Amino acid sequence: VRASTVLFEDAATMRGRKSVPYTYGLNNTPTIEALNDCITELEEAEGTVLVPSGLAACTLPLIAFLKPGDQVLIPDNVYWPTRRFANHTLKRLGIEITYYDPLIGEQIEDHFMDTGKVVFLEAPGSNTFEMPDLPALIKAAQKHDAITMIDNTWATPLIYKPIPNGIDISIQAGTKYYAGHSDVVLGAISANEKHWQHLKNTHQNFGLQAGTEEIYLTLRGIRTMGVRLERHEQSALKIAQWLQSRPEVSPRSAPCLAE
Ligand SMILES: Cc1ncc(COP(=O)(O)O)c(C=O)c1O
Repeated sequence: VRASTVLFEDAATMRGRKSVPYTYGLNNTPTIEALNDCITELEEAEGTVLVPSGLAACTLPLIAFLKPGDQVLIPDNVYWPTRRFANHTLKRLGIEITYYDPLIGEQIEDHFMDTGKVVFLEAPGSNTFEMPDLPALIKAAQKHDAITMIDNTWATPLIYKPIPNGIDISIQAGTKYYAGHSDVVLGAISANEKHWQHLKNTHQNFGLQAGTEEIYLTLRGIRTMGVRLERHEQSALKIAQWLQSRPEVSPRSAPCLAE
């Protein structure tokens, strides 16, 4: 469904909009709702918002939950445009950025300042594919009352469900496995009950939404995600076995880890 303005019979019908879920195309249409509901169910989340790219799905929750003076802890192997956003935009807003070794586990505690507000996670991390000890990182974040958010693009909620595992915000570059056909750019952010309303309000305040065509194509792609991921898993296992037999090939030699 494509829409901006939605027509009503009269003002009284529109004022009773609690029973009319669609009042303006930026906020909701049956197409937006279909993908939001699908992802919310997969994520076991309270709600989901859509944005025009996976990168926007990483940046929106950071900007929504951080304020000047706060500290954010980010893994050293984070998807590099997320790092660029932190170094350029978050730093300019007076947010303290601490990069941590993704394999640090519970020792992340040593990096917390009194102002520690958000722990960003990515599992596995981009490019090096190092697997963080998520339960240890989540536990440490909870101890410091910090909000946890994960870029879960590589796993998808089929393989790892962040929210039932105690993470507050789950991020997907829908561009990848959700869409699945390399013809869509789209992002999705899901939140638990505690953080849903603030995420939803911030999304609305920024005037963000994914395009109708992209949402429709993602609805098409997501139906086959299960079978595609099974095949990906088989291929990945073969590559992992090959890498195990070649210890001289180190993921840390990836040039993209540079600033
Ligand atoms: C792990 C991860 N997060 C986020 C993104 C950003 O997605 P998009 O290209 O839709 O902005 C990507 C894209 O490569 C990615 O690999």
